[in-house]
Amino acid sequence: MAKVIGIDLGTTHSAMAVVDETGRPKIIMNSEGNSTTPSVVLFRDEEVVVGGRAKRAAIAEPYNVALATKRHMCKPEWEFTDDKERTHRPEGVSALILKKLKQDAEKQLGEEINEAVITVPAYFQDMERNRTKTAGELAGLKVLRIINEPTAAAIAYGLENLGQEKLVMVYDLGGGTFDITFMKVTGQKIRVITSDGDKFLGGVDFDAALVEYFSDQFKEKHGTDPTKDLRTYQDFYSRAEEAKIDLSADTVTYVSLSAFGKTLDIELERDQFEDLIRPRLQNSIDLVQEALDAASEKLGKQMGWNDVDNILLVGGSTRIPLVQKMVEELTGKTPDVGVNPDEVVAIGASVVAAHGVGKQVVDANLDTVPSLEIGDVTPHSLGICITDSETGKDLNSIIIKKNHKIPAQESRPYTTRFDNQTSVWIIVLQGEDDDPEYCTIIGDKDGYVLSDIPPMPKGVPEIRTTMTYDKENMIHITAEELSTGKKLDIVINNPSLLTEKQQESIAKEIAGMTVK
Ligand SMILES: Nc1ncnc2c1ncn2[C@@H]1O[C@H](COP(=O)(O)OP(=O)(O)OP(=O)(O)O)[C@@H](O)[C@H]1O
Ligand SMILES: [Mg+2]
Repeated sequence: MAKVIGIDLGTTHSAMAVVDETGRPKIIMNSEGNSTTPSVVLFRDEEVVVGGRAKRAAIAEPYNVALATKRHMCKPEWEFTDDKERTHRPEGVSALILKKLKQDAEKQLGEEINEAVITVPAYFQDMERNRTKTAGELAGLKVLRIINEPTAAAIAYGLENLGQEKLVMVYDLGGGTFDITFMKVTGQKIRVITSDGDKFLGGVDFDAALVEYFSDQFKEKHGTDPTKDLRTYQDFYSRAEEAKIDLSADTVTYVSLSAFGKTLDIELERDQFEDLIRPRLQNSIDLVQEALDAASEKLGKQMGWNDVDNILLVGGSTRIPLVQKMVEELTGKTPDVGVNPDEVVAIGASVVAAHGVGKQVVDANLDTVPSLEIGDVTPHSLGICITDSETGKDLNSIIIKKNHKIPAQESRPYTTRFDNQTSVWIIVLQGEDDDPEYCTIIGDKDGYVLSDIPPMPKGVPEIRTTMTYDKENMIHITAEELSTGKKLDIVINNPSLLTEKQQESIAKEIAGMTVK
């Protein structure tokens, strides 16, 4: 049976796993012998380097290195420009990372790999999910499914202890994103109850806080700002990450910095580092409390920390002792740290991948792990743009609320604003804000028109608008004028940002690139 792999495409590190012949999931090492691969791409003239060597090259060739590209998946216009003025879209950069993973997996497993399950943060919007899927296709992979990272983590943790109903919280603090999810695990069902997060909170921010601290010290001693030079900045950045990692194990570390022929030695204590990152971590803790309240609302009863059965810490940044301490202080519970936080997501994805092709999976006792039913929720609210009849202001009228169980279907009645109005415009929005300016338009930017409404006084026609969000993240909208039955059907099907032609040409380009 052909092998399918699970891939955790992380902001800073990616990992892959497979269910082996014995039915046990295991991490696949990359060709450098590591269990995770830095999600870093170096563009050279003839070749592309992905992983650890690309990360190290960020100091010598900073203009040719694309870092933390996952953060840009939400920006339709963003492109990385290398020093040859060649531009690379986030899908293309991610595709190169996936191509390297695919190659390494093939080498390790000794066979071609054509299918994968890829994970994304739970609150990734449709566009980001679809771009991730496109990245997989550009790398030559059939993407069986895109699943949420916390769901994958819970599956990996749950392998040995499925059975009784549990309320599980997943606190995932990785390199670039923070994700908080509450889910119910009942027998063979995993259902996300609520999820939230901060796309711009993770290990890279702690590194950046340290770089700022280092350069302030440097300025104080030598009077020049060392980080104005990109190479020095990258150098300070890697020293910062090393110091941060050291301080997870030791209470003090020593950092030697040099720039423009001048040097600075710093003795850095864990307490000082903790003071630098505490405000950002507090933001994540505030979100945890908010998420518990949101979960309570969803479940129809106020939940306390005693109702939470398991707290899973996922993501490399949860190795920071202060993170564990702050989570413990808030919840009064000791989090589960039994599984390697860098690997759990890929392991969970590999289980879903194996089940997707009907392969048997077993737990540590060699008991069969049943195929799990994954119940996800909508990552954002979906609605349409309406005009307030009193103020004339545009408003986001939410039809399907954020965290609604998928598949979701909801209806709302609308009407006309003017006498004898014979058509209405429907612009589909994704987002929470009342103001459409702060939401994302999905589907056709110019909207869709329901026409041939018979002339009637304003406010009389009833236009019933029904929105469906299905398991494939496809959005269907029907708007029906009830007196005539005149109907408009809209399907927003995987709103990819690339045309078929563009995708073909990028796929060809990537297939022709040598990735090392
Ligand atoms: N021992 C450690 N102490 C502190 N931070 C660590 C440690 N080990 C790894 N990290 C940090 O964890 C981060 C990487 O974690 P992980 O691989 O889970 O993130 P990711 O999957 O790339 O990101 P995301 O899930 O946000 O997309 C990096 O910022 C790294 O510096
Ligand atoms: Mg991650």
